Amino acid sequence: MLTFALSKGRLADEILEMLRKLNLCDLRIDKDDRRLIIESDDKKYRFFLAKPTDVPTFVDSGVADIGVVGKDTILEENRDIAEVLDLGFGKCRMCVCGKKGDYSYLNKTTLNVATKYPNIAKHYFESRHQNTNIIKLNGSVELGPITGLSDVIVDIVESGRTLAENGLEVKETIENLSARLIVNNASLKTKYDDMFSLIEGFKGLVEEK
Ligand code: PRP
Repeated sequence: MLTFALSKGRLADEILEMLRKLNLCDLRIDKDDRRLIIESDDKKYRFFLAKPTDVPTFVDSGVADIGVVGKDTILEENRDIAEVLDLGFGKCRMCVCGKKGDYSYLNKTTLNVATKYPNIAKHYFESRHQNTNIIKLNGSVELGPITGLSDVIVDIVESGRTLAENGLEVKETIENLSARLIVNNASLKTKYDDMFSLIEGFKGLVEEK
């Protein structure tokens, strides 16, 4: 049996659509569904429905062989997993954002940065030799510069609407993001044939698009 760790939330619909196209599982999750582990009818596959930030943990530990998660989470969690395929959906950018037209952040000795991604932010500003005070927020990060809690934010930008509607703008792009297929390093060796044909299946779907 192969075990998948799947991200609940924004990426879920596209992931489930791919699983259906590959005939792995006809999984439909509605809002009332509280199941966390689901098995395919033929018992060949098992699926964990996990919080995105926990998907690399399940794959690193080996309790899941394979996972689907955003590149943002891979970078932030920095686990010992292998990223094998860009699935081409959930495209967005990790950016430094701040108030429109305000570049005073460039002259700060210590920059206050609000973010849900403290490791990515720390790593990025360290590489630029910029001192920071990283403020971890769990959502609505845009409140940082608006309220004066921070000079800038490090956050995901997809359509750009949240920024525009709050008088903010992208200052710098850190990384382009999308959903990725990740695998456990040991499973890749011990279950090579099954893993290989699965990865090829996903690759075929990505190329079809
Ligand atoms: C994410 C992100 C931005 C927004 C960007 O937040 O943190 O706030 O989406 O999307 P946009 O560019 O299309 O406007 P999410 O919706 O996950 O909610 P959160 O702020 O509660 O984390």
